[in-house]
Amino acid sequence: MLSFEPMQPADIPAVVEIDRRSFPTPWPESAFYRELTENRLAHYYVLREVPEGTEEGPGEVVGYVGLWVFHEEAHITTIAVRPERRGQGYGELTLLKAIEAARRLGASYVTLEVRVSNTVAQRLYEKYRFGRVGLRKGYYSDTGEDALIMTVEGIDTPAYRRFLEARKAGLTARLGHVRCESETRPTD
Ligand SMILES: CC(C)(COP(=O)(O)OP(=O)(O)OC[C@H]1O[C@@H](n2cnc3c(N)ncnc32)[C@H](O)[C@@H]1OP(=O)(O)O)[C@@H](O)C(=O)NCCC(=O)NCCS
Repeated sequence: MLSFEPMQPADIPAVVEIDRRSFPTPWPESAFYRELTENRLAHYYVLREVPEGTEEGPGEVVGYVGLWVFHEEAHITTIAVRPERRGQGYGELTLLKAIEAARRLGASYVTLEVRVSNTVAQRLYEKYRFGRVGLRKGYYSDTGEDALIMTVEGIDTPAYRRFLEARKAGLTARLGHVRCESETRPTD
């Protein structure tokens, strides 16, 4: 079974391993730790494959996503899926759950930056109705690449909620039921 849960400090080594294999300039463990423990705007989640028998442990982290939520705005800071699990719908599920979390936290729109060369991620965002709203020249200091700014507005509208429900039904048919744990913070 899949489970979408608030990221805990114990998840950070697995998250860092995925991050290292996903981005040219990965974040150190300390960056994730600070986000979880010091940044009150930050909401980080993991997607976990939970084994059927509880004696087998908590299960493997297969994806993660980070959000900063400030009033109406939710900013996706990072999202990735374990390389060997890509192409199975996990990235889409992680994005969908992050948009739902953003809405629950009071946001009405979600925005992010994506490398202009990252067409795979752009396709995923376009599938969830993100539009291209701007360009940040030379945004990525490691390669000097430009960032596209992509945004979806109206995530709290009935029309977008219906759209998400329809997509969720498709993903549930494909991936099975996804347990969604309530929002808790490791420091609370
Ligand atoms: C972007 C990422 C999270 C997608 O995860 P994933 O689990 O492979 O994606 P899914 O299988 O859920 O696919 C969802 C959609 O993404 C797009 N997509 C996924 N793989 C694709 C590919 N190889 N080519 C083109 N589009 C692709 C499609 O729109 C797809 O929808 P479809 O199945 O209807 O075509 C994953 O590729 C990843 O971790 N990349 C490295 C980190 C990264 O670039 N993050 C984004 C930073 S802005």
